[in-house]
Amino acid sequence: MGRAQNYDMDGSADQYAVVGHPVAHSLSPFIHSLFARQTGQSLTYRLMDVEPEQFAERVRGFFAGGGRGVNVTLPHKVRAAALASELTERARLAGAVNTLAARRDGTLLGDNTDGAGLVQDLTVNLGMPVTQRSILLIGAGGAARGVIAPLLALRPQRIVITNRTAERAAALAAVFAGLGEVQGCGFGDLDAQSFDLIVNATSASLTGALPEVPAGVFRADTFCYDMAYGRGDTPFVNWARELGCRRAVPGWGMLVEQAAESFRLWRGVRPLTAPVLTALAGRATPAG
Ligand code: ATR
Repeated sequence: MGRAQNYDMDGSADQYAVVGHPVAHSLSPFIHSLFARQTGQSLTYRLMDVEPEQFAERVRGFFAGGGRGVNVTLPHKVRAAALASELTERARLAGAVNTLAARRDGTLLGDNTDGAGLVQDLTVNLGMPVTQRSILLIGAGGAARGVIAPLLALRPQRIVITNRTAERAAALAAVFAGLGEVQGCGFGDLDAQSFDLIVNATSASLTGALPEVPAGVFRADTFCYDMAYGRGDTPFVNWARELGCRRAVPGWGMLVEQAAESFRLWRGVRPLTAPVLTALAGRATPAG
């Protein structure tokens, strides 16, 4: 397997960063340092706390100073898409970028590895098939949008997008209608439906809230996935278990898998994720 060049002309390690606001609790530096050690890549990876108004200037400055790549997190993912000279197809469909990479000619490629990270965690790490399964996606913001095309690529039986604000769910479903069976509705329209897989893509967990979908959508054998993660189980994971779901997991695996996809784009090698997930599980820090 090819390996990207490890050192700049002056012999210093290649520079990477995660750009967000706030970003202090991001685990990306920890994850990428483990990837680098595991694959024998020499790089530095730091935190960049950048206010929205300064995003373009600071990121351009980072690359002008020799930076090779950045991860982009809240609230900058849509801004990062505007900054890129070219977008991958999955970033274009997501309408957002979580990974920027410097190309040889100095221009920036924008990618979005979030959906691939979710799909990899579900299907490989957790053994949850998506093909021919019915999926309920809760939420219609940027986090939901980023995973729809990668899920549809696996040919589920259908995806129902449900959202507190029903119109946003319908609008999002319309965007992806050409890629597969996808509908949008409000929480109140879900009665009498149940699903094989339920993915929580709302930001409700950040405030300890729960999306008020009817309890009837959860069956004992419904696989519940919360894209949020934190110390211990998230409110959504706890709720799904209380409702009798046998399998409900927080999004740690998606976090590590999207990082591995970014690392591959930058370095030409995909690190193993299992040891990093194990290291994270043993790490007593606040997540973010
Ligand atoms: P993100 O990029 O994280 O998706 P966003 O674009 O602000 O952030 O979207 C947040 C999503 O979480 C939306 O789907 C929002 O629902 P609304 O469109 O109705 O606002 C959803 N959300 C946030 N808090 C919620 C809550 N307490 N209950 C249900 N849905 C919630």
